[in-house]
Amino acid sequence: MKTTIEFLKMKEQKDKIVMLTAYDFPSAKLAEEEGVDMILVGDSLGMVVLGYDSTVPVTVADMVHHAKAVKRGAKDTFIVVDMPFGSYHGNLDRTLQTAIEMFQQTGASALKVEGADDVVNVISSLVSTGIPVIAHLGLLPQSAAVLGGYKVQGKTADAAEKLIQDALKVEAAGACAVVIECIPYQLAAEITKVLKIPVIGIGAGADVDGQVLVYHDVLAYGTHHVPKFVETFAPAGELMRSGIESYTNAVKNGSFPKPEHRFTMADHQLEQLYG
Ligand code: KIV
Ligand code: NA
Repeated sequence: MKTTIEFLKMKEQKDKIVMLTAYDFPSAKLAEEEGVDMILVGDSLGMVVLGYDSTVPVTVADMVHHAKAVKRGAKDTFIVVDMPFGSYHGNLDRTLQTAIEMFQQTGASALKVEGADDVVNVISSLVSTGIPVIAHLGLLPQSAAVLGGYKVQGKTADAAEKLIQDALKVEAAGACAVVIECIPYQLAAEITKVLKIPVIGIGAGADVDGQVLVYHDVLAYGTHHVPKFVETFAPAGELMRSGIESYTNAVKNGSFPKPEHRFTMADHQLEQLYG
């Protein structure tokens, strides 16, 4: 398993970091087998696997449940688990208790939190407790209601300057990496240049230290909205749909199961049964 030190080295050597979300045992296993450097158990699971229309309803229990399955599927990969909406604001002692529980129960390598401002304190407290933290700046899905939707961030000079300052603050607070979401590529490149820690982009262009995408987006699996910054690398969803269609037709028309799928009894047992 790679460590936070190795991710720093990857940045220095311009060796791109690959991060992918996973939410269960098989997705984690595939990610690990294909050499994904970091798996994110994102609270995006609320949308892509639980069917909510935002990440707000996701609970700590949901995150722990899915993260445990991911850990079972990818025992040798650096696993990052999102702290969900409302679990790290307000009382710092409560936040710390929640983070400790999530970290201990899931066997994660790091936790991720959105934002700077009052979250800077959260980052330093978690790190001083011994929990590696990844920060998340730019578009903050947990704050979409306040931001006025899922919009590109940092487009004005003032907003860009604030994001650079926030990035420096989360680094100073001890974050081991930062995810930047939906910002202009020029700003992403600048943040990547000024930070010593790895910068993982999503909708932030190519001039960053690594990329993260949502599993279901990479594979076009599911029916949720797919953002502009996504590339589909394999249309797995289509393949799954046609498989289910074929199965349904085969049962209806009697072509499944075939003789090779069935079990049988010995003749003398049958004679005994029917006389
Ligand atoms: O929850 C998630 O999938 C994320 C990524 C989009 C970075 O936070
Ligand atoms: Na997230």
